[in-house]
Amino acid sequence: MTVPVADPRLKGRAVKRIAFDEGTIARRVQELGREITAAYPDGELLVLGLLKGSFIFLSDLVRQIERPLHVDFLVASSYGDATVSSGHVKLVYDPNTELTGKHILLVEDIVDSGRTLQKLVTLLQGRSPRSLEICALLDKHIATELHHPVRFTGFDAPHEFLVGYGLDHAEDFRHVPYVASLQ
Ligand code: IMP
Ligand code: MG
Repeated sequence: MTVPVADPRLKGRAVKRIAFDEGTIARRVQELGREITAAYPDGELLVLGLLKGSFIFLSDLVRQIERPLHVDFLVASSYGDATVSSGHVKLVYDPNTELTGKHILLVEDIVDSGRTLQKLVTLLQGRSPRSLEICALLDKHIATELHHPVRFTGFDAPHEFLVGYGLDHAEDFRHVPYVASLQ
């Protein structure tokens, strides 16, 4: 795949390679939408996007799910030293919506250690949803801390630092329409 020589969105940062281009992402998101539509034949579906990383993926994904659904968001914050597992995840924004009896689909940008998702799954299970599943755009398959399967995965991610399509590096590059690995 060709690396854009001068994409002004990249602030002059060199991109090692484009891991997933726009067309590839669009096709996979359409397939995921079909899989999700088929997986939920009945019941109320609440798609919960984990901010900020999931915002672009979520907005594309829900438009490919051909059944009734509601959308809400979660904002989680890990506190303590970010480089050390504090084991704590705090909800900075918690949806007002009742979760009891609903199918909950938790949407994440990328699964790395799985620590954040594991904490959220434990917290949300406590609210008696009818079902709780995870949909991640990318999975690095190194999530030793996640004890819940990722039911829907967009792509297996290379073990590189990825940006774009919602993923950031120090808040930069979220709006880049493809997924690239930084130099
Ligand atoms: P985990 O709790 O270790 O699985 O971390 C998941 C979170 O770390 C994701 O939601 C991202 O915000 C961030 N993250 C992990 N890997 C990457 C990456 O390659 N690029 C950008 N963000 C990443
Ligand atoms: Mg994130």
